[in-house]
Amino acid sequence: MDQELLNKIRENVDIVEFIGKYIPLEKKGKNYFGLCPFHNDNNPSLSVSREKQIYKCFVCGEAGNVFNFLMRYENISFQDAVKTIGEEIGISVTGNFQVSKNKNQKFYDIYEIATKFFQNNLLSEEGAKARDYLKNRKLDMDTIKEFQIGLALNSRDTLTKMLLKKGYDSNTLNELGLSTNDYDTYIKRIIFPLFNPKGEVNGFSGRIYNGENINKYLNSKETLIFKKGENLFNYHRAKEEVRKVKFVILMEGFMAVIRAHTIGVLNCVATMGTSLTSEQIALLKKLSSNVYLCLDGDKAGETATIKNGQLLMDANLNVKVIPLSDNLDPDDYILKYGKDKFISLINNAISYNDFKIKKLRQGVDFNNSDDLSNYINAVLKEISLENDNIKREIMLKNLANETNVWYNTLEKKLNELLSNQVKSEKTYFEVSKKPKKINKYEKTMQILIYYMLTKKEVITLVENSGVYFPEEKYRILSREISYFYDKYGYINIADFKSYIENNGIINEAFKEITLLDFELDSNPSEKVILDYLMVIKNYNVALQIKRLEKLIMNEVDPIEQAKISNQIMKLKIGSENND
Ligand code: UTP
Ligand code: MN
Repeated sequence: MDQELLNKIRENVDIVEFIGKYIPLEKKGKNYFGLCPFHNDNNPSLSVSREKQIYKCFVCGEAGNVFNFLMRYENISFQDAVKTIGEEIGISVTGNFQVSKNKNQKFYDIYEIATKFFQNNLLSEEGAKARDYLKNRKLDMDTIKEFQIGLALNSRDTLTKMLLKKGYDSNTLNELGLSTNDYDTYIKRIIFPLFNPKGEVNGFSGRIYNGENINKYLNSKETLIFKKGENLFNYHRAKEEVRKVKFVILMEGFMAVIRAHTIGVLNCVATMGTSLTSEQIALLKKLSSNVYLCLDGDKAGETATIKNGQLLMDANLNVKVIPLSDNLDPDDYILKYGKDKFISLINNAISYNDFKIKKLRQGVDFNNSDDLSNYINAVLKEISLENDNIKREIMLKNLANETNVWYNTLEKKLNELLSNQVKSEKTYFEVSKKPKKINKYEKTMQILIYYMLTKKEVITLVENSGVYFPEEKYRILSREISYFYDKYGYINIADFKSYIENNGIINEAFKEITLLDFELDSNPSEKVILDYLMVIKNYNVALQIKRLEKLIMNEVDPIEQAKISNQIMKLKIGSENND
């Protein structure tokens, strides 16, 4: 790997701007903070340092430079991350840079072949009826192409046969759900390819189109590459648009997403009828912190809105609701009322809390005092769950206005509710104190390595001291740091991180070390460094003494025993002089 090229690319990308494109960052002191996309974060615990050009999460411990961020975020290899970022800034990365081959590549290849096969069927003579069906549903050829919609014909083995002929074995086809007991799984259905977040086809959903009396949609079973709960339909296509418009619309069915696409609303994804999983919430979080729910306008859709909305709120996302009515799903709504009406619905999306309160209000008789007080109590409870005190005040004012109950009375009641709540708001420093047991010596080694990475003078001090790090990973790290500094004439954490990218153990050790940034003085005196070095030296002596004492116990020859004992003595005296 060409280290200089890596350094050059990294140098041309500012990590704060780069990560800021993916998650909102806020400046606090020297660093920038945002919600960590690598664990279910509730407090901004991802810290990004412009000065050091690294990020780190002090809850989950994830850390690294821009390449590592993209790698983790997009689930791609280090090489691919370098390539992508390189391309973004106009540095082309070629040569010995190999795009890594996915270990499931064969499965994706098969799905790709199957997708093309189904697409061809739809265009064939036998596809006329299906084409009519799609036409009736107002899906034009552009949309059909874009979503790679296809058709499984009325035959039991055409796909299986074709794939076998291409040399794929029937076990694989059955495992992938394309065949069932060696016959085609999909027969006489319109095929909607499903994609993983990277945009590779990993499953199908097949719809009946001729009025058959069977399951409307037949979905791929769970396979090695398809987990329904880990996908969101249209994720890879919506990604760009969501970053532009800064919110994502969550729908239930993929037909709704496709329909929205036809009118130029491109920031939609769908759960495909299942309940929202934590993996899907994590995916949404990666897209944006603003999620608009646009579920079906029936009772079930309303219940799902309340339930999913709460899950998203709990994940610290800003949630709005686009309510549909008359039992319409977004597809029906757009067909019935048109593009402009739908877009104005989006623009008038209401906050999740307001939606919930609106639901509470339904059927309440404001002239009946029992009804009214029940309603007020229920709304107050909702308000007490809102963390933002400005929003709380607005909600309270609205409640006072609509019920004609004095604001101060409501406020008093609300404060009672609030003080009863066990305040579980933790600052992120509390969260981060997940004490990982490391002993004083290991910590000292980490501190020394940290300073070697941030102050070149320390490299020389460590080299001159001849210190021996008793643990291998730190030994390797210090050696590699010296080497890097020697070769490139400078040192910084971000570039050194690229340099050790392929070294598993020290890569892990490195993450812990970057976290020290929070606690350490950024400008230690030489004396402080020498003290740390002394701690390690004494530790080595202590280890040596321990080893010799063990030896003496097993030694039978008194002369040898005396020799060892003498050695121990010398070591002890030497280390006392060190103190
Ligand atoms: P819907 O029944 O609302 O379907 O299911 P739809 O999106 O309106 O589709 P059309 O308009 O009837 O063609 C919503 C989602 O639930 C899943 C599908 O993913 C669908 O997109 N579903 C539905 C199934 O998996 N199987 C079914 O039999 C029905
Ligand atoms: Mn529908």
